Amino acid sequence: MTPSDVKATLSFSDGSPSIELPLYKGSIGPDVIDIRKLYGQTGKFTYDPGFLSTASCNSTITYIDGDKGELLYRGYPIEQLAEQCDFLEVCHLLIYGDLPDAEKRGNFVKTITNHTMVNEQMQFFLRGFRRDAHPMAVMTGLVGALSAFYHDSTDVQNPRHREIAAHRLIAKMPTLVAMAYKYGIGQPYIYPKNSLSYSANFMRMMFATPCEEYEPNDVLVRAIDRIFILHADHEQNASTSTVRLCGSSGTNPFAAIAAGVACLWGPAHGGANEAALSMLEDIQRNGGVEKIGEFIKQVKDKNSTVKLMGFGHRVYKNYDPRAKLMRETCHEVLGALGLGNDPLFKLAMALEKIALEDEYFVARKLYPNVDFYSGIVQRALGIPVSLFTAIFALARTVGWIAQLNEMIGDPEYKIGRPRQLYAGAARRDVKPLAQR
Ligand code: SDX
Repeated sequence: MTPSDVKATLSFSDGSPSIELPLYKGSIGPDVIDIRKLYGQTGKFTYDPGFLSTASCNSTITYIDGDKGELLYRGYPIEQLAEQCDFLEVCHLLIYGDLPDAEKRGNFVKTITNHTMVNEQMQFFLRGFRRDAHPMAVMTGLVGALSAFYHDSTDVQNPRHREIAAHRLIAKMPTLVAMAYKYGIGQPYIYPKNSLSYSANFMRMMFATPCEEYEPNDVLVRAIDRIFILHADHEQNASTSTVRLCGSSGTNPFAAIAAGVACLWGPAHGGANEAALSMLEDIQRNGGVEKIGEFIKQVKDKNSTVKLMGFGHRVYKNYDPRAKLMRETCHEVLGALGLGNDPLFKLAMALEKIALEDEYFVARKLYPNVDFYSGIVQRALGIPVSLFTAIFALARTVGWIAQLNEMIGDPEYKIGRPRQLYAGAARRDVKPLAQR
């Protein structure tokens, strides 16, 4: 980061001495005010619950311009990556900082392919879950359990160990998600097949059975691969910030990623795609397009807790570029499957049109986000609603591990330890029981 020649001066109306704070410039995007010395110089903290105005780190990985609706992975626009690359090329970009040439691509694909199996013991963890356990509960357990197999060989301060952990996590997530799915439906696990591409291999582990050969459908494989690309990273979102804070203690990277899985599960975050599809199905069940007006009225009613799931975003105050790409993928997949008249897709587009013309949403800059259409695509691919967020976790693992490794590799990093505004009881003495 580059020191700015502009300084910030903080003065106090009670005559306390004012202080000067340095500003730093990024390569693009907002400057930051360096407050690291603020408490030492003023005895005061800043206050920013939800971190709406706080830069938690200095990163080179992903840039979002919420007003323009722009998303760059290492400087490359998401639209170009989704069109011209596959997910493993994007993984290489996020982990190593650039797109691979043909030779590097070949080596990286081979490395990932040769890490796709999980230790045979992993299947016994699944047996501890009820068959109807939510896949995200299973994934939180399984990813954390990976720590038990690599704890002795993961010195996070060792760059080579960090790189191997990244390879293992990228490679094994599809295997674990498919295992969680198969366990839930009572079918046998399907082992990875090294002759297939990353995404074709995932589709086969999900939908093949030992009873017959499974031929991956290229359109569906391309669609799931694009879903992975669109979900791969997203700056310092809640789950990435969780991974950074968890990893800052020096814990095993598998444990830190498990923390990210747990955070992503929430309906305000990665769980929104499951919630958005359930919302569309409810509207469809209660009358479809004709009922949209009534639903929107509920959303606008402050006394109701109803939200338009898949809409709104902390950063995007314009169209989430991923939502546009996801809508295009919807068209492609539904067309390829002869589902062009899918009622849910038509309902989603009608709902989007009505919402984007409604003053409530316009005034609050609420646009569709990545989760609005992703559920419809995944449903068309045959993925059950309960597995949508696990697919999001599979894709986001590369972003989490890239951000974690970037932090650990930064000589300036420290264990994260925010402070607070304390509004509780002042010091008081304990009274004996008889006097309380
Ligand atoms: C993801 O951070 C990331 O990058 C996340 C993510 C990633 O890739 O990692 O992009 C993935 O999490 C996408 C977001 C998925 N979540 C949803 O779709 C759930 C529905 N969305 C909302 O819960 C909400 O929009 C958030 C949580 C996404 C953003 O919340 P903010 O920024 O805190 O916005 P807010 O709650 O302050 O909303 C501002 C206003 C409020 O109304 P007023 O109090 O001003 O009257 O807009 C309203 C909110 O009530 N509002 C909505 C709404 N979202 C915000 N009203 C109805 N429906 C919605 N979806």
